[in-house]
Amino acid sequence: MDRPRIVLTRRIPEPGPRLLQDAGAVLHVVQQDDEAAVPRPNLHEAAADADVLLTLLTEHIDEPLLRHAQSTRGVAQFAVGYNNIDVPAATALGIPVSNTPGVLTETTADLTWALLLGIARRIVEAHQYMTSGRFSIWGPQLLLGADVGHGTDGQQRTLGIIGFGRIGQAVARRARGFDMRVIACSPHFNGSSDVESVSLDDLLIQSDFVTLHAALNSDTHHLIGERELRLMKPTAYLINVARGELIDEAALVRALQHCVIAGAALDVFEREPHMAGGLAKCTNALLVPHIGSATVATRAKMATLAATNAIAHARFERAPHCINPDVYEGNAYRERMDRLRT
Ligand code: DGY
Repeated sequence: MDRPRIVLTRRIPEPGPRLLQDAGAVLHVVQQDDEAAVPRPNLHEAAADADVLLTLLTEHIDEPLLRHAQSTRGVAQFAVGYNNIDVPAATALGIPVSNTPGVLTETTADLTWALLLGIARRIVEAHQYMTSGRFSIWGPQLLLGADVGHGTDGQQRTLGIIGFGRIGQAVARRARGFDMRVIACSPHFNGSSDVESVSLDDLLIQSDFVTLHAALNSDTHHLIGERELRLMKPTAYLINVARGELIDEAALVRALQHCVIAGAALDVFEREPHMAGGLAKCTNALLVPHIGSATVATRAKMATLAATNAIAHARFERAPHCINPDVYEGNAYRERMDRLRT
């Protein structure tokens, strides 16, 4: 029986490895050290005889690598986002690519709200104030933040959601509990009973909190730059749990330094794991290391989905969550799989 070789660029949580092994796969992990990047030559070498590549968002799966992966029946990404993979090149080469949608929606929406509340109510600053022993007496002016729902001024706050897919919608659902007005801007969204569809500029002008949930592509790269930041209210906050490259991070640092906006809470960065110069020193920024989907249960579900997709690729079956399903109808796929089956 065929014992497919599944190359994992880095380790994934259980039950992923167990499911793959139970399906008869032989596993090879390119980088065992969870804290280290995958050296490109090692990835290149391992890809050469991978029946399936199981990838993370930290590796560039570009055209040269895909061309080199002569035996590969499919690429299974352990993430919903796949901007690290050259999907058009994979399609042209007849390689199906899959991802892990749906299972991380609620967890990522929760983190969005944790960041929104955290930056508005200065939670990290307050924690540091306590742990550094500076709390000597309650004070009427101590660590004042911003209201999230109705403020003391009686005004309803507006939440602006850029990208109204699964995660954006889950963020909107949570906003109901805070009695916020919700507006959104998204290519295929025309408005609903409780969420108004607006242009990007109108969203930036009207919102007290702007949160990003758009996919990264050539249209959305640097969607938020200096001009857009200047459209925002000086009292508004920017939250990003999507992809760092949606924001011109250097422009954001300047905006934070000059109080063009009130603050930003970021889970993702333009050049991860690095931050733009000066960002770490901005006291009006709340920064966390790409943990949007990081709960035990959600990472296990992502591992299950990635393994399920990988097993389907290995068996020459349609992957349940294929990003480029058109590939299955093309000659490139038929010819590739005929070659690999023999
Ligand atoms: C994704 O899935 O795209 C997140 O960024 C990591 O879970």
